[in-house]
Amino acid sequence: MTAISDTPQRSYRTVNWGRGYSTLSEEHNYAIDEVEGSIPCELQGTLFRNGPGRFDRGGVSYQHPFDGDGMICAISFDQGKAHFKNRFVRTAEYLQEEKEDRILHKNVFATLKPGGFWNNAFDFSFKNVANTNVVYHGGKLWALWEAAPPYQLTPDTLETLGIDELGGILAKGLPFSAHPKLNPVTGELMNFGVRAGLQTTVRFYRVQPNGQVVVDGTHTFPGFAFVHDFVYTENYWIIFQNPMTLDPLPFVLGLKAAGECLKFADNQPTRILLIPRSGGEMITLEADPFFVFHHINAFEEQGKVIVDSIRYEEYLTTQEGRDFRETDFSVLPTGKMWRFEIDPKARRLSSRVLVERSSEFPQVNPSVVGRPHRYAYVAAIDAPQGNAPLQAILKMDFQEEVQQVYSFAPDGFVSEPVFIPRPSSQKEDDGWLITLVYRAEEHRTEVVILDARDLDQGPIARLKLKHHVPFGLHGTFTPHVFAR
Ligand SMILES: [Fe+2]
Repeated sequence: MTAISDTPQRSYRTVNWGRGYSTLSEEHNYAIDEVEGSIPCELQGTLFRNGPGRFDRGGVSYQHPFDGDGMICAISFDQGKAHFKNRFVRTAEYLQEEKEDRILHKNVFATLKPGGFWNNAFDFSFKNVANTNVVYHGGKLWALWEAAPPYQLTPDTLETLGIDELGGILAKGLPFSAHPKLNPVTGELMNFGVRAGLQTTVRFYRVQPNGQVVVDGTHTFPGFAFVHDFVYTENYWIIFQNPMTLDPLPFVLGLKAAGECLKFADNQPTRILLIPRSGGEMITLEADPFFVFHHINAFEEQGKVIVDSIRYEEYLTTQEGRDFRETDFSVLPTGKMWRFEIDPKARRLSSRVLVERSSEFPQVNPSVVGRPHRYAYVAAIDAPQGNAPLQAILKMDFQEEVQQVYSFAPDGFVSEPVFIPRPSSQKEDDGWLITLVYRAEEHRTEVVILDARDLDQGPIARLKLKHHVPFGLHGTFTPHVFAR
């Protein structure tokens, strides 16, 4: 492991950022009484967030933050007051490891069982970490992880009920991705699941408002695919097939985790797949190699399909031989906001970069998902160029092509900004952005509320938690008030 020297030009200290990946073993349940500013009374509901909460077991550190055990936070807002609760998702593997207090399972990204070859070879199972997203829909709360079916929890107590196979549809362990999208027109939760090998199979789902699940087609295409997110429009399901290869041998022999056997193939194209929702032939377009984890949104306009995404020039992964808490950001590829314009009839694709500043975790107003959007909100770095941890919230106005940035540097590190529309709002940006900001000096986290219309005015409320919350992944808001 190599220590990184912090320079005064940096907006952060690496050691401060790295502490955000400390385990939070305690489970809390309390009214938040330390508030700077005021919580809007119109803000009613619950923000659920998911992310790794534990990064070590029995004194042994996990090798990748995404191998961390899923922990759900519920922050409920009711009449100007807020309540915090957190609980680990008690997956079968988590309960076994909790009981024995040692690593018993292989993980997807980098953490193997102790004992090397003899203990890991020919073991093709994974720990279900249930750590990527959490969504309340059709009366159910699900903790989501892209390689397995969801875990169902009770929305008020966050108690784990068990794996939900969606009425048998996900039997045989079929996955249900961590990036479902609520269709604002039909009220259905749109999602996909992917299984990749020498060829890739993708299945699309619609979960009706009453919880009934409809399978909307299963498609197979050649080659391995690492697909984390998708988008949809009126007529298409859209996925990007990132150019990745998997070398299975070190995984089979138990020398490396599956995630470490992935390689960015810079001699292969990135393929954009448009799958007609009402049936018909899949449209495949090829582009120079790049990698996308997350899309912002997609829509159709004058016969064209527009997809906005966060694009990297290569796959973003941890650095071999270096503790992930000591990441050297200066050598990491940056995530930039790009627009892809596709003419499905002419089979033509054009693309351009819209925001140079490195960013991740894009969000839009939920009422424009799958439809034209004017604004996007992302977690971004403090500086306009280069790479660094996420410390700022950026609002992009696609119509005017202007940005607004509010930074929490040097001490603050942000998470995904979830957009919550103001009830009965008419304008697309009339609402709040809620992000969790890790305050390194105090080793505590704040729940920060920004007015999405104007980030420059700074937070309208800072809700100070009694402890830190490790850097999380994704979350969703529901107008139901739970976890009081
Ligand atoms: Fe994601």
